[in-house]
Amino acid sequence: MEFMFVASTFLQFGCGVSKQLGDMLSASGVKRVMLICDKGVKAAGLVDRIAGNLKDTGIEYREYDKVLPNPPDYQVQEATELAREFKSDALVSIGGGSPMDTAKAVNILLSNPSTINAYDGLNTVKNPVGPHFAIPTTAGTGSEVTGVSVITDPKAKKKMVIFGANVAPSVALVDPELTMGLPPEITASTGMDALTHALEAYISTLASPVTDPLALESARTIMRGLRRAYRNGQDIEARSDMLLGSMLAGLCFSNTCLGLAHSMSHPMGAYCNVAHGVGNAIALPYVMEYNVPAISPEKLTRIGEALGLAVAGKTHEETGKAISAELSTLAGELRIPRIRDIGVPKDLIPTLARVALDELSTQTTPRKPTVEDVKTLFEAAW
Ligand SMILES: [Fe+2]
Repeated sequence: MEFMFVASTFLQFGCGVSKQLGDMLSASGVKRVMLICDKGVKAAGLVDRIAGNLKDTGIEYREYDKVLPNPPDYQVQEATELAREFKSDALVSIGGGSPMDTAKAVNILLSNPSTINAYDGLNTVKNPVGPHFAIPTTAGTGSEVTGVSVITDPKAKKKMVIFGANVAPSVALVDPELTMGLPPEITASTGMDALTHALEAYISTLASPVTDPLALESARTIMRGLRRAYRNGQDIEARSDMLLGSMLAGLCFSNTCLGLAHSMSHPMGAYCNVAHGVGNAIALPYVMEYNVPAISPEKLTRIGEALGLAVAGKTHEETGKAISAELSTLAGELRIPRIRDIGVPKDLIPTLARVALDELSTQTTPRKPTVEDVKTLFEAAW
């Protein structure tokens, strides 16, 4: 047996922990900080609420609040130049995956040469990065604890995956109270992203005895919280479960990489701006069923149990079908649309399939697909 596991982020979890930001920055000797967020988080009042904790500490801050979904490379450049001009000595990202991934990319450029496009791939970042405090406001990406930053190159229509050492935030303040105001559709798409992370990490070819129990616990925790958080956003226990589950999944996939659902979601995002979690939720039931022959009976049973299914006495194939059906039912209950309803033209499928096959995540999916297989999966999901 051979495996590696890295978790390099100091983690503080619990209701109200984001209030410790000012004290923690002060204790680290930080004087000037750049806050990276998006317009939605800013409009929801979360940035002002968190920045309020910097008052009385003497820490100066500047905001970059323009981060777009599927964050593009030119925004990384723009925010890096602002951070250099402001002479910030730490970054704070507030939001979902897009602000956190943008801040990771900015942090790379603050201590490494060239543009972010030079770092697409595995273990490409040579110089250590400065302090980055990540504060998630959605329960999905787990980006607060991962050594992964996904940045879009709009010219090449490609999602770059910068993965490995010197990428992860130094500190994560994971505070369920910050997710209370999320609307149901964001709860659904980010929650399905987190569930996809847990399941793809569990069946990844890089799964290990360290990640397996974390991945199963993540899936169980997400299944306990997702429907509840979707129905009632003020349910703090469900919100807490979702943030815990997404963070656990982040610890896993940062080590195992992901699978074919992510490979299919990435080009849907790059070509048609489909939200990342929606793309995953659409692909996941089909990808899980496709993978069944390559998943061990024990692991398949554990997945069924984690999803709350009665799988005792079922054959391997029956368990696989039950898992796929449950994932479809869940997506339906969360009103995840079909691909054809969200602006993905059918004649684009061959291109999407070709791009998906070349994605980094395809390397760790348990059943090696052909381009025809991926086309068939897209057509089934269409
Ligand atoms: Fe994801």
